[in-house]
Amino acid sequence: MDRDDWSFGESWNVDPSDPTWTGTETAVKEQRVEEWDDETLVLGIETSCDETSASVVRGGRDILSNVIASQTELHGEYGGIVPEVAARAHVEALTPAIREALVRADATFWDLDAVAVTLGPGLIGSLLVGVAEAKAIASVLDIPFVGVNHLEAHIYSNFLGNYSAKWPAVVLVISGGHTMLVHARGHGDYEILGGTLDDAAGEAFDKVARFLGLDYPGGPEIDRLSLLGNPDAVRFPRSMVGEPGFDVSYSGLKTSVTNYVRKLEHEGNEINVADIAASFQQAVVDIEVAKTLAAVDHTMVGTLFLCGGVAANSGLRTGLEKACLDRSITLHVPSIELCTDNAAMVASCGMALLRRGIYTSLDAAPDPNLPLK
Ligand code: KG4
Ligand code: ZN
Repeated sequence: MDRDDWSFGESWNVDPSDPTWTGTETAVKEQRVEEWDDETLVLGIETSCDETSASVVRGGRDILSNVIASQTELHGEYGGIVPEVAARAHVEALTPAIREALVRADATFWDLDAVAVTLGPGLIGSLLVGVAEAKAIASVLDIPFVGVNHLEAHIYSNFLGNYSAKWPAVVLVISGGHTMLVHARGHGDYEILGGTLDDAAGEAFDKVARFLGLDYPGGPEIDRLSLLGNPDAVRFPRSMVGEPGFDVSYSGLKTSVTNYVRKLEHEGNEINVADIAASFQQAVVDIEVAKTLAAVDHTMVGTLFLCGGVAANSGLRTGLEKACLDRSITLHVPSIELCTDNAAMVASCGMALLRRGIYTSLDAAPDPNLPLK
């Protein structure tokens, strides 16, 4: 492992001897611990939304196991996530997922050095399940407990198994709950450049898909259908693209799609769902590529990290790959499994916090609106 890039290199942004620095409100700054090394085993737990996941990661970067129990089928019949159903499903699935993660990693509880869990943002009932279990494990084993920000964890999906990922970078975090451009200068040193003014990109995908009568979650459905359709069939608006700044808006695009379909229906014309899906997806890709490139120009960094559920989108991956190639920008894109919610990214982020001497108190409560700082 290239340790300088990973932890204490130029990207170190706080004075480790400063006892007043707390990082996040719930974090406690303690002594920087040199023993967190390449062999450290962190158990990651993720239950913020509708995926129950447990993972064992070695040294912050090597995934020994990453068990993901998706609740998609459960919520599918309702066309969206039902928070109470999600929380109950986490209760059932989490302990078996942890057991399975340990078996696959060929480890036992007693081999673990720390437990990291998503503290927020997310659904409160779902977060509570993971946080309670993580605290119990940490307390019983007498090992550190680290509460992790879900958005920061998504950023760390770029470091998993990828030793060439380096700060500083512009990060496009694009998921079902968030869409933002971040200037990440180093571990814990983030400046939010802009974000969505209304719906997150994944939310727009899911809503448009639902309107088109597709299954939940809609993002992957639109992605699949787009391969069969013509992305130039309908020219949907690319809101805010010509404007300065890094904010985006998806409500206008969503309304355009519904208005377009209703007009066709009203006129008795045939509706080509694949063409509409492909044209909608192309509009999202054009918006995100334009704003992301503007952010890269603005920050003058040569590296781009993509992460979050919508980072699994084939159109967005291809669009950014092409744009980055043209401009000699180094692009890092996690594997599809690491784009959507998973516990490996939580363990990796937890390890980075530990290496900076940050633990979380066992009194810390989950925060459904935990901001990225
Ligand atoms: O990161 P994630 O698993 O959960 C949140 O933190 O929100 O993201 C889930 C979102 C959903 O809106 C889903 O429709 C979207 O990611 N998504 C996709 C694709 N795969 C997942 N959107 C577009 N194309 C995909 N291939
Ligand atoms: Zn997520």
